[in-house]
Amino acid sequence: MAAGFDKDCKVLGSVLSLGFGFVTGGTVTLASRPGNPKPRVIRLIDKKAVMNSMGFPGQGLEPAVKRLSKSHKHKRRVLVSISGTIEDEIFECLRQTQSLVSGLELNISSPNTAGLRIFHEPARLRGLIEGLAAEKTVPLFVKLPPWPRDEDTRRELLKLADTAVDAGVDGLVIANTHPIESSCLKVGRGGLSGAPLFEHTELMIADVQARVQGQASIIACGGVSTAEHVWKLLATGASAVQLYTSFIYEGPGLPARINKRLVKLMSAAGISSVEDISGPPPPVK
Ligand SMILES: Cc1cc2nc3c(=O)[nH]c(=O)nc-3n(C[C@H](O)[C@H](O)[C@H](O)COP(=O)(O)O)c2cc1C
Repeated sequence: MAAGFDKDCKVLGSVLSLGFGFVTGGTVTLASRPGNPKPRVIRLIDKKAVMNSMGFPGQGLEPAVKRLSKSHKHKRRVLVSISGTIEDEIFECLRQTQSLVSGLELNISSPNTAGLRIFHEPARLRGLIEGLAAEKTVPLFVKLPPWPRDEDTRRELLKLADTAVDAGVDGLVIANTHPIESSCLKVGRGGLSGAPLFEHTELMIADVQARVQGQASIIACGGVSTAEHVWKLLATGASAVQLYTSFIYEGPGLPARINKRLVKLMSAAGISSVEDISGPPPPVK
């Protein structure tokens, strides 16, 4: 399960029991935040998509840490997403959560939070990551914004991936929601998620895999709703896959259905480990 579903880390164990291999709690910020004014989540039902402009509503670090301590038995399968608009806030989130989780996702890519874009400046991102890398005791992932097809922005955002890897992250989460403008959202713009993203997620994984060449792990996220999607992303170079919006549309049985189908595909391909997934998914009914 991707970040944003359980922002205050209230139901991580229940989410895992549905069949997810791991869950990312948060995004947690140091102080509690009200988020943006409503309406801030809109379903686009015919597209199986969602537009959101949540802006990190949450209770803040302290209650999240208390809950993570209580759900300690799930630690092995829990990551936490942390963010903030100044470095000190992010360092404090890392210090207080890292002993309670298996890994951290640094979120610098929400399109809905004023102030986060400062970390899209490579020198600022490098400084932040080098500092975090020096203190971290668990793997650190950075969640990047998606890059559009236009060449200039693509190059700029891929540079962020290079910078993050060079500065010492263990992996990249590709990617956050796609920026979108809409008068249905009170603040006029937000992030698009769900089915329309999948094709682009696949392209971005190929893009980034070619650049990081095994120096960092890749977690793919964006528009995933089937075992075939999972297969394609793993075959393209991702080590793990996350989803959120398809869960809204398909319901709590989705992860178990994906797992069952993935096992069927793997058995048809004659493999028993997801690490051996390669090529297109076999054409199984
Ligand atoms: C309502 C909503 C809230 C989200 N909140 C967060 C968040 O707090 N932190 C984060 O890193 N991503 C957040 N995301 C982005 C998702 O984690 C994911 O990157 C994105 O939705 C694309 O995946 P999907 O198409 O499977 O939903 C949110 C997405 C939605 C729909």
